[in-house]
Amino acid sequence: MKKIIVLSLLVIVATGLIGFQIVFNSVSTVNQSKNKWEWVESEQSLQANQFFWDQFHSGNYDTIPAILEKLTAAYLENPNDLKTIYHLGFTHFWALSERQHLDSVPGTIIDHATLALKYLGEAYKMNPDDARLLSFLSAAKIIVGSLSNDEGLIKDGYLNGLKSIRDWKDFGEFSLAYTLSRLPHTDPNSQKSLEWMEETTERCYCEDIDSKLEECKQKIAQMAENTTNKERERIVPNSWVAPHNIEGYFMFYGDLLVKSGDWEKGKIMYQLAKQAPDYANWDYKEVLENRIRNAEKNVELFRKEIANGEKVNVDQAIMINTSISCRTCHQMSKKEFDTKYAGFDQKSYLDQSFYFLD
Ligand code: HEC
Repeated sequence: MKKIIVLSLLVIVATGLIGFQIVFNSVSTVNQSKNKWEWVESEQSLQANQFFWDQFHSGNYDTIPAILEKLTAAYLENPNDLKTIYHLGFTHFWALSERQHLDSVPGTIIDHATLALKYLGEAYKMNPDDARLLSFLSAAKIIVGSLSNDEGLIKDGYLNGLKSIRDWKDFGEFSLAYTLSRLPHTDPNSQKSLEWMEETTERCYCEDIDSKLEECKQKIAQMAENTTNKERERIVPNSWVAPHNIEGYFMFYGDLLVKSGDWEKGKIMYQLAKQAPDYANWDYKEVLENRIRNAEKNVELFRKEIANGEKVNVDQAIMINTSISCRTCHQMSKKEFDTKYAGFDQKSYLDQSFYFLD
């Protein structure tokens, strides 16, 4: 009898585990059986990826068609070119996300979401240990699902987002909170997003902001930018990849709090953005100052729903809905581009150990 009970328990546990794997841990992608990647260093691939980085870091939104042309040509030359596939996914995402740069937003802008879904999925199949990809893939699914009224795809994207949190908390929590920040402030997921941001902030930047604000400010001010670290903690300070990560992170957290109604705490987060060591070189200081000045007024403004294709000013919406939704973290000022990062050895920093994390 005892044996049977033990056996049945084992069966239940095993079924549960298999069920968990299928429901929560599996990731569906457009490409089905692709896992062979290559580290391509052909002239065409190197140039296309270099062009991507230069243009992305300079915030040249208008150059996106040229970036896509070069990356796509490199993809046609070798469809297993890992870095090229990554950057095709990210560039399509950028095109969609910062669409407010366009004079008017065409309906076909949504095609970038579908293509991001394809390329990010393809890259993820080749490198499933990079949870950064999973975070973006999750967002692409949620966006495509919402645009096409596909509840199943939205749910799939959400579950992938939770998996990306399990796989790489510090990146995943911010990322899912960012994706979900477009939801109405009354949605239960908005509360969840605030919790994720609070947890990540406590873990990565400073415990106990409420009672130790001055210490937190000092700690952030001393976060030297990362130019060599390739371990997971590299995503916390500023770096060559995201030269104003700290500023963008706290601007977003401030926006989320303001939208929730807690504009006073929101202002504290905006103040923390100002502590970043490179703040003086950040191109969006004025946007931040406007947010600090108008925090209380912005509660209503940030809650307003924005229709597809509607144009909004950068001061009138939360970060994700604006033309600076990627560049707050990723853009270098012209001065930084020409001097500080001019001789940066990108090739040795973004090597295989950067992409293939343990
Ligand atoms: C809050 C800051 C922040 C925002 C906003 C942000 N990112 Fe990032 N991004 C990061 C960080 C941090 C990393 C990880 C850097 C690392 O791995 O060292 C990253 C990684 C990347 C990479 C690197 C891929 C590679 O080859 O390693 C790309 C490309 C990228 N983000 C594009 C985007 C796009 C497009 C958007 C807008 C939709 C965006 N990011 C919004 C902080 C941000």
